[in-house]
Amino acid sequence: MRNRITEMFGIEIPIFGFTHKPEVAIEITNAGGMGALAASYYQPEELEKILTDMDAKTGGRPYCIDVLFANRVGQVVPMSERLKALPKAHVDFVEKVLDDAGIPSLPPEVEAEMLREKPPGHGHTEEGVLEVLEIVVRHPQARFVLSAMGAPPAYVVDRLHSRGIKVGAMAGSAEHARKHVEAGCDLVVAQGSEAGGHTGVISSMVLWPEVVDAIAPIPVLAAGGVGSGRHIAAAFALGCEGVWCGTIWLGASESELTPEMRKKFIAAKSQDAIQRKYDTGKPLRVLRSKWTDAWDAPDAPEPLPLASQKLLVAPALKRLELANAVDYMGYISGQIVGRIKKEQRISEIMSEMIADYENALTRLAQ
Ligand SMILES: Cc1cc2nc3c(=O)[nH]c(=O)nc-3n(C[C@H](O)[C@H](O)[C@H](O)COP(=O)(O)O)c2cc1C
Repeated sequence: MRNRITEMFGIEIPIFGFTHKPEVAIEITNAGGMGALAASYYQPEELEKILTDMDAKTGGRPYCIDVLFANRVGQVVPMSERLKALPKAHVDFVEKVLDDAGIPSLPPEVEAEMLREKPPGHGHTEEGVLEVLEIVVRHPQARFVLSAMGAPPAYVVDRLHSRGIKVGAMAGSAEHARKHVEAGCDLVVAQGSEAGGHTGVISSMVLWPEVVDAIAPIPVLAAGGVGSGRHIAAAFALGCEGVWCGTIWLGASESELTPEMRKKFIAAKSQDAIQRKYDTGKPLRVLRSKWTDAWDAPDAPEPLPLASQKLLVAPALKRLELANAVDYMGYISGQIVGRIKKEQRISEIMSEMIADYENALTRLAQ
């Protein structure tokens, strides 16, 4: 699997593993791929500690940081102003869904903690992005930064390039990919609509070669529905030079899922991963749950723009998490969830992918 991408980063295998969990990123990196940690998920001081720990546990290997630069965030409002800023009908709807389900209110200390945190959506603003970048550039093993929700602004590309850090961006169409290259990106992740998280509408099979052709000779990583070595072989056949996976790691023992949620992921079918706007105001592929069903009901309001929708649902999602209300908790998931059949270690998933890739090549050669 050695190619331009493995050379670009000095890694052994061009498998990139997106995750919210530092341990998952560490394991993928140590298995020869590149772990990609979602920085926007953490408060800045937490991120500094996490990256220091990742440096210590990855033996000098490079890793990636994923940042949610969003072009259209909407108004970012502090949690203390939440009730004044949000439409009452929306707040009442969310309260009713949770109250009807018997989910306890947030304990006062958790509410107080949420008030101290940066407001929802802050991480997508210029100020929030710069805070993250200042931390990232202090960690020399962070060799790659991926912009998740749009072309990275020039100030970001310049700052990272001046430190020798490669910059990439996620694309859901050939037009997006061209914009990313114009913005100075060194590589592009072409993410098909079957992926977990925020996606476009074009499936991987159609999208990957379209992006490869649109931006050649810039390298492309394939994302959306990759969960085996056969998918990797297909991605290479379609012109991509590496893969970027997210969902497949969720079944791993090291993932952020609780044992109950992991069971739910293992039981889920591909069609249970549905695209809805209820968590962030933008189309997000998540596992279907009683929470998504409630928003699908005819009496549900329309989701708000990104920052407002996050402000609306953040306390509700926290309540569900604390109550361990598994029926109501969906979590982000791609359609490849249907392939997760048992709990495994990350190292096993990586070894199986590589063996399956080699078998695929043997079959093709025959
Ligand atoms: C739990 C989860 C959270 C995600 N959150 C983000 C995110 O914060 N930023 C991002 O760039 N992509 C995010 N994604 C998308 C991944 O980066 C990746 O593109 C996607 O998972 C690839 O498709 P797959 O889910 O079929 O593997 C997320 C995916 C999952 C499964």
